[in-house]
Amino acid sequence: MKKMDNLPSPIGVEKSEILRVLLKEEYGAIPSRPYSVTGRVESVDARFAAGKAPLKKVILTCLAEWGEFSFPVYYVAPKSEENVPCFIHINFRDSVPDKYQPTEELVDYGFATLTFCYEDVSSDDGDFTNGLAGVVFKNGERRADDCGKIGLWTWAAMAVMDYAQSLSEIDKTRISVVGHSRLGKTALLTGALDERFYCAFSNDSGCSGAAISRDNSGELIKDIIRNFPYWFCENYKKYVDAEDTLPFDQHWLLAANAPHKVYVASARDDFWACPENEFLSCAAASDYYNSIGLEGIMSKTFPEEGKCIHGGNIGYHMRAGDHYLSREDWLHYINFLNFKK
Ligand code: GCU
Repeated sequence: MKKMDNLPSPIGVEKSEILRVLLKEEYGAIPSRPYSVTGRVESVDARFAAGKAPLKKVILTCLAEWGEFSFPVYYVAPKSEENVPCFIHINFRDSVPDKYQPTEELVDYGFATLTFCYEDVSSDDGDFTNGLAGVVFKNGERRADDCGKIGLWTWAAMAVMDYAQSLSEIDKTRISVVGHSRLGKTALLTGALDERFYCAFSNDSGCSGAAISRDNSGELIKDIIRNFPYWFCENYKKYVDAEDTLPFDQHWLLAANAPHKVYVASARDDFWACPENEFLSCAAASDYYNSIGLEGIMSKTFPEEGKCIHGGNIGYHMRAGDHYLSREDWLHYINFLNFKK
């Protein structure tokens, strides 16, 4: 197991400063939050999940100082229960159920889900003229510290959280955010920026998500900037081949999730996301949680495949297999939350 003695420590740094650094150097400034978010139910499938939980397509309309933006979300809540916990799932597709979201099973475990497709917010490319980007960036032009697409998807996840506040079936104190890979990076940033969440779940988020960037044996900043420069702010480019000059590392993103919980899931064969560096981040962020009087991760020994480290405010597992958001991951998430029905 690697050791990292050269990580900048977030201990003693104010949370607002941790966030300022992360936004300035990596993700960029997020558009200002909406002053109103309203939902209009466009369609209802009353027979969804054998009639146990209607599926509603809802169009959210967000009004902010910079203008107006609307996008669809998909809402499923168990009919027979009240005060249900909820997952806000930032997904690659708008299908419900989906290969990344076993919706009926989540209903059976007593969870509501609010899902949106990230490309309904803005396309996953360097075009900043469409969707939310088209409204907030005039002529598609960004300044060096304006956010990239991860910041825009994060903004949308927080708007869904705003909408969730109006849903009477949902227990507002038990709402978590989940995302896989690029959307795992997004889930971690969402949890960092929004203290209303109970837990942020990162599935295989890897480079510029959960994984420590220094001494990474998978994807490096130069790889991610070569392929996906538009996920980040322009400032991030200066860290290509210069990880050691980062004034932070990715454990700051986990630390910024405090005081609520955060969870990192890895997959054994997903070398690109670098499970070992994802785990190191949990161990390093754990010291920060401890420094503010909270339990962090319950073991700092890299676990065997299939084993979970649960019980603290930072959870971790590494399952067998490759880069995917699987049913097994969801079941570990539900176990970690440990909400008694
Ligand atoms: C690429 C990218 C990763 C990202 C992944 C995904 O592999 O290099 O950083 O996490 O796509 O989102 O699926």
